[in-house]
Formats: sequence, structure tokens, C-alpha cells
Amino acid sequence: MKLILIGCPGAGKGTQAKRLSKHFDIAHISTGDLLREQIELKTELGKKITDIMDEGQLVPDEIVSRILSERLKRDDCKKGYILDGYPRNLSQAEGLFEIIGDVDKVILIEVNEDIIIERMSGRRDCPKCGQMYHTKHNPPKVPDVCDECGSTLIQRKDDTEETVKHRLDIYHGATLPIINYYDKKGLLVRVSGNGDIDEITSDLVKILEEA
Ligand code: AP5
Repeated sequence: MKLILIGCPGAGKGTQAKRLSKHFDIAHISTGDLLREQIELKTELGKKITDIMDEGQLVPDEIVSRILSERLKRDDCKKGYILDGYPRNLSQAEGLFEIIGDVDKVILIEVNEDIIIERMSGRRDCPKCGQMYHTKHNPPKVPDVCDECGSTLIQRKDDTEETVKHRLDIYHGATLPIINYYDKKGLLVRVSGNGDIDEITSDLVKILEEA
């Protein structure tokens, strides 16, 4: 199964992709995570993209596409994968088609954007195992400590109110056109991302199992 998850920043793409990846036993590929890994490893590429990501801008297409192509060659992709955060504009969508052809489904997680700032300011990530939390909606058992591996949770630098607003503008300008692109291909499924995390997962599993 090959899937794409689309949604504005904070729509819940990462949260749901992790759950679907476990349920269907397919790889979860987040381009945001792959890029943050480069920053953490302090590679040349990481140094080049730190400011871009901290400011909430899109990283240039050729960099992201190269990283994604390398990732798709790994063995865990043979059974299928969920792309989270890629493609993000029309040129990436067309480039992806050149590499893998059509995916099975493109899921658009739609949320009321009024709630996004609150979601993002409460997000906490585990820098070691990648587990994600929210201080109110999905808190760890012990505040700021990862339930899975015990590491101290961190807050992303691009989750400030000002940067989130900028990321939302970019979503409206660059990413929304790909919704039309996939809708025309008959691949798009819309799912509400406003409800409870578990309910959204059930909706998604049902849609994908019936597909
Ligand atoms: P990326 O990491 O992809 O960020 P994003 O798309 O902005 O999305 P987020 O990860 O912020 O949100 P999400 O939808 O995954 O929500 P989450 O599940 O975390 O990209 C970051 C940056 O990398 C970009 O700005 C860009 O610079 C670069 N980049 C990445 N890909 C690129 C590409 N293809 N091209 C160019 N540049 C690229 O949930 C958010 C919070 O809400 C969490 O705390 C969660 O617990 C909580 N939550 C989730 N669902 C619910 C719910 N239903 N109810 C209540 N709370 C919820």
C-alpha cells in the first residue's frame, strides 16, 4: 500500500501516519523528520537548511526530492509506505509521479485552522524515538518525559505562533494546488481531523480497509 497524507501544519499527519504505519505494517516517511535528522547530525546539508526550517520556509525541491528518493530505496519500503509531508507543491507531486507512478490513496486531513496554534504550541516531540505528544490532548504519563524511552521531550523551533502562521500561508499558497491535482486523478479522500485522535485513526483504517 502506498499512501500520501496531506494537511496543514498541525492537522495530525504525523500522529496518524505513525498509527497507520503500525496498523498496516508499512513504512512511515516524514520528510520533515528526514530533514530534522540532517540538522541534528550537523551535516553540511543540515547546516544549509537550519534557518530555512526554523523560519517555516519550504526547503528547495531538489534537496527534499533527493533525500526522499534515497529513503525510498530502503528495504522497509518494499511492503509499502505512507508519505507524510511530501509532496508539498505541484512540482514535487509531478516529480513523485515520475519516480513511483500513482499511489493508492491520497488522504487529506481537514481541520478547522482556528485550533492549529493551540495544537502546535502544546506539541512535544521525543528527540530520540520520535514519539509525539500534546500537553493537553495527548500528554505523556510524566510531564516532558517520553513514555516509550524516557528521554526529555522537546518543543520544535518552528512551532512559535508567528512561524506557524507563516507555515499556514505557505500551505495555502504552495500545497493546496496539489489537492486539485490528486482529486482530478480520483485518488483524493477527505477526512475530518477535528475530532478525537483515536476516532480519526478508526475512520482512516476503515477507509483504507474498504478501499
Ligand atoms: P513537517 O515536519 O512536515 O511539518 P508540517 O507539515 O508543518 O506538519 P507538522 O509536523 O507540524 O504537523 P502534523 O500535521 O504532522 O501534526 P502532528 O501529528 O504533529 O515539516 C517541517 C518543515 O520541514 C517545513 O516547514 C519545511 O521547512 C520542511 N519540509 C518538510 N517537508 C518538506 C517538503 N516536502 N518540501 C519542502 N520542505 C519540507 O500534530 C500536531 C500536534 O497536535 C501534536 O501535538 C499532536 O499530539 C496534536 N494532535 C494531533 N491530532 C490531534 C487531534 N485530533 N486532536 C488534538 N490534538 C491533536
